[in-house]
Amino acid sequence: DLKNVASFPIGNIVSASKLASTSTANTTFKQILNTEYNSITAENDMKMANMFTGPDTYDFSDGDAIVAYAKENGHRVHGHALIWHQSIPNWLNNFTGTDEEFEAQVEGYVKATVAHFAEAEDDDGNPIVASWDVVNEYFDGSSVRSSLFTQRIGNDFHEKAFQWAREADPDVKLFYNDYNIAGQVDKRNAIISMVNNFITNSIPIDGIGMQMHLNHDWPSSDLPTSIQAISDTGLLVHISELDVKVNYGDDITELTEERAAAQEFQYQRAGYYYSTIVPPAQQFGLTLWGFRDQDSWLYDGGSDWPLLYDNDFNTKISHRGLVAGL
Ligand code: XIL
Repeated sequence: DLKNVASFPIGNIVSASKLASTSTANTTFKQILNTEYNSITAENDMKMANMFTGPDTYDFSDGDAIVAYAKENGHRVHGHALIWHQSIPNWLNNFTGTDEEFEAQVEGYVKATVAHFAEAEDDDGNPIVASWDVVNEYFDGSSVRSSLFTQRIGNDFHEKAFQWAREADPDVKLFYNDYNIAGQVDKRNAIISMVNNFITNSIPIDGIGMQMHLNHDWPSSDLPTSIQAISDTGLLVHISELDVKVNYGDDITELTEERAAAQEFQYQRAGYYYSTIVPPAQQFGLTLWGFRDQDSWLYDGGSDWPLLYDNDFNTKISHRGLVAGL
């Protein structure tokens, strides 16, 4: 079992509706979740589009259900994600107030959300939600991504967001999360500069989430290099959304033995470099982005197989690879 092999938390994604379901598939899903994992991330339910339902109006019910499940079954919950350009509620997209009023709405949302989820505690009095991805995907390559937030608040919206989150909870671990931190050197360098600026200017940040959406043959040597570079910031390091596409070039029509083996190796490398390069005190954990291939956001109508379990919840050899690496 993954969690028993690893010396740090092992996570996977959930939704409130799957946790509430008693279908055969979802019963199996919950069994695996509770045997192999001890950390959960909401795939979508704790994003802004789902919780920020109107001006000064929040619906935390799905997140609360996930937190209650976590408490009952001994998981921690990693909060994902306070501000992401791809999860903006329609009403906020169409907000007609001034830029100051827009910023006040986002500030209110960040503070209310962090404060709300700081309340749930386990039996020892420790918070269930002890961490948040505060800003997701601020960069586009090495440039600041243009978004509603840069347009309405400014390019420093990310700094404000971390400060708002810290004001709402002095203890919660605050993460910056992004993709291609492994594999895209100029993007990684931009992120490391940002983090160093935060540290110099006393803007609160505790960790970096490396999403780790990999391909079977990418990245190669940059995988350990990137994990080392991110570790060198001294912050917590989270592999936050690990999956491995095997059909990036659309050149296969089924999961071949050769591709399955390449995928096994890539999962092994991710687990191995994380567990050996990141100092134990900085190992926040490793989170998979899904269970069955068919549930993956990258399934692509059945033309990719990125995860650890087949469509009957049997482990693939990729699972063996990750176990060997951890
Ligand atoms: C994805 C979910 O898996 C999909 O269900 C949803 O439609 C879009 O978001 N980076 C992230 C995650 O930080 O939140 C994304 O999750 C995948 C890419």
